[in-house]
Amino acid sequence: MNILGTGLSGLVGSRIVKILTHDFSFEDMSLATGIDITDFKSVKKKLEKSSAAWIFHFAALTDVDAGEKENGNKTGNYWKVNVEATDYIVKCASEQGKRILYLSTDYVFDGQKDSYHENDIPNPKGWYATTKYEGEKKVAQFRNNLIIRIANPYRSNPIGKTDFVHKIVERLWNKQQIYAPKDQIFVPTFIDDIAKALRILVIHNAKGIFHVVGDSPISPYNAALEIAHTYALSPNNIHPTSFNDYFVSRAPRPMKAVLIHDKITKFGISMNSFHSGLKEVRKQEIKEEII
Ligand SMILES: NC(=O)c1ccc[n+]([C@@H]2O[C@H](COP(=O)([O-])OP(=O)(O)OC[C@H]3O[C@@H](n4cnc5c(N)ncnc54)[C@H](OP(=O)(O)O)[C@@H]3O)[C@@H](O)[C@H]2O)c1
Repeated sequence: MNILGTGLSGLVGSRIVKILTHDFSFEDMSLATGIDITDFKSVKKKLEKSSAAWIFHFAALTDVDAGEKENGNKTGNYWKVNVEATDYIVKCASEQGKRILYLSTDYVFDGQKDSYHENDIPNPKGWYATTKYEGEKKVAQFRNNLIIRIANPYRSNPIGKTDFVHKIVERLWNKQQIYAPKDQIFVPTFIDDIAKALRILVIHNAKGIFHVVGDSPISPYNAALEIAHTYALSPNNIHPTSFNDYFVSRAPRPMKAVLIHDKITKFGISMNSFHSGLKEVRKQEIKEEII
């Protein structure tokens, strides 16, 4: 099956392409391949020429704190890429009878509840999250489309942007002090699991919103200890702090972003816990080092 994608060179997209390379044939619409998705004419032309039945729309501006500097600015880059470009893709895809798979985020929720199902109403706190939710709304105008919410994705050997796991590994390796919130909860998600879930959802013609997140909610403090253990690095420089202290003067975000993923289990999809996903990442990295 041919897939036309956006953001396939990113942290998540590049790994998904690698894992699903035998299942799908991917073509990327990116600045590197000559397409700026904020240019309506380019998007329209590309979609008209493509025989792909699906658009995997992963491209976004993703720096939460940088995005906050544009808060409220609908002529800013975050609005242009995350909302307007999504609108262009949705319009052109619907004209061409193509379906969209859109990657969204746990940050669409405000974190006031203990956990969130797919049908809970989002209430994004920061500008990045707001633009992603506005993107969701564009995609959801057509019932055949698929919205996948992920959270804190990690993988082996990240390329381009690094993931939170490898940021911590680097700091531990360099013997830097690490302060991590003990009262925050998130659900780190192994990107290899996201790839496998997307494949199954697409094959089953799934529609609507799905949470595709890791199996174990954890605090960043405990996640950092788990990383130190898995990479056989000393945990002595890891210190607990509070969510409020850690994120003071940073973009607002949810303190408890626990997404429930029961809905995907009906498709036979299972997700790794942070413990098992991290072990697999390390195993893949050791194998590649040996080769
Ligand atoms: N990373 C996370 O923590 C996280 C968490 C939850 C959800 N998500 C969602 O998952 C998706 C993928 O995230 P990621 O972390 O893999 O992103 P990323 O590494 O920051 O990559 C962003 C991608 O967007 C493309 N892009 C940006 N502006 C573009 C433009 N004007 N035209 C064409 N392409 C453009 C980039 O292409 P170039 O390389 O050509 O610039 C790149 O491939 C995003 O939708 C994000 O909101 C991410």
